[in-house]
Amino acid sequence: MTKGWTKSDWRAKPRVQMPDYPDTAALNTVEAQLAKYPPLVFAGEARKLKKQLALAGEGKAFLLQGGDCAESFAEFSADNIRDTFRVMLQMAVVLTYGAKVPVIKVGRMAGQFAKPRSANTEIIGGVEYPSYRGDIINGFEATAEARRPDPARMLQAYTQAAASLNLLRAFSTGGFADIHRVHSWTLGFAEHDKAERYRELSNRISDALDFMSAAGINSDSAPSLATVDFYTSHESLLLEYEEALCRVDSITGQNVAGSGHMIWIGDRTRQPDGAHVEFARGVLNPIGLKCGPTTMADDLKVLMAKLNPQNEAGRLTLIARFGAGKVGENLPRLIKAVQEEGANVVWSCDPMHGNTIKAASGYKTRPFESVLREVREFFQIHKAEGTVPGGVHFEMTGQDVTECTGGLRAVTDENLSDRYHTACDPRLNASQSLELAFLVSEELSAQREAARRVAL
Ligand code: PEP
Ligand code: CO
Repeated sequence: MTKGWTKSDWRAKPRVQMPDYPDTAALNTVEAQLAKYPPLVFAGEARKLKKQLALAGEGKAFLLQGGDCAESFAEFSADNIRDTFRVMLQMAVVLTYGAKVPVIKVGRMAGQFAKPRSANTEIIGGVEYPSYRGDIINGFEATAEARRPDPARMLQAYTQAAASLNLLRAFSTGGFADIHRVHSWTLGFAEHDKAERYRELSNRISDALDFMSAAGINSDSAPSLATVDFYTSHESLLLEYEEALCRVDSITGQNVAGSGHMIWIGDRTRQPDGAHVEFARGVLNPIGLKCGPTTMADDLKVLMAKLNPQNEAGRLTLIARFGAGKVGENLPRLIKAVQEEGANVVWSCDPMHGNTIKAASGYKTRPFESVLREVREFFQIHKAEGTVPGGVHFEMTGQDVTECTGGLRAVTDENLSDRYHTACDPRLNASQSLELAFLVSEELSAQREAARRVAL
């Protein structure tokens, strides 16, 4: 893809948000070991995802990306993986019904371990410690020992990612993902007293499935109803790990990040001349780029040229994360930059990272209302600009946690301490995630209706 690029070129560039490993010999041993391990994903899969994302850029598919803020070693279990996968499938069915286009399912899973932090240290109980940077780097526990970056954690992260992906692949094709089964779980959600608004839509989906079944289209006659394509993604932050898993695709000779299907560059590591952009530009995978209030149009232009010099459709997803109330002042100026360059991008909306607040109880939270408001603003702006809202990006879990406030089960500030389990940012719980999918589905179907009226 990128002539003259090598997977270690990032080492000569300024780096931010990465640990300084105290034991270089131990780091080198881990890197050498990982470099010999099999990649987690294959180039053909990354290419297939890129083709699907190209359709999302044109409004012919819709991206649903979601999962933990940070995967953790402690929370690793089959049940957690299954539950997040299940709620993503439920959301995908609801969104497909609204958008009437295929929904591309991409988990923040099987590799989402490394975290950028706003400060290098944090004070806990009056003592200053190096910040926690995700389980792939150091430990959450507030001790000097746990907070020391340990390269051996990369091996554990790799093992966990491999096991997670193995289970996800099994769930995707082994019968668990059958659309009838997935929808039956959603019917359960819609029975909730306060879910009346969603009951009608879920009954319509039931009708559509019954109709198809009567017409002979069922999981036996149409195996695609029983399986899904499910992809993995994470922030490409810990470049030693990324480099060690980078491979050459035997078919095309291009480099592929073997750590996940899609990788993204975070809001804090998108310096056009920095290490993270340097690594991502050389691999063939679909790349995400977080865009926040501090993303300047000129930088975005440079980044688009660097990350997608061939202007390949599906290669670059711009993940807008401005915060509710700030989309109107930021998204149009970046849409304009994209248009001026004639760049192919997929626009996705991350309504999580611009909406984090501290509750009176001291917990970091995100009000459901703000999350929803940012998504709605994102849709409104795209409608006004005549551009395509191509997807959404959520921090969410299939568990019944109490980390974000609001939603039909009304988590309050006082409830936050009940089940606050995240290793980093607050996630939508299963019910909030599905509710959001219903509301986004309404937006998508309104948009389709409006487009149809214009066409008539
Ligand atoms: C994240 O996605 O977890 C994250 C840190 O986002 P951002 O880079 O947009 O702040
Ligand atoms: Co986060």
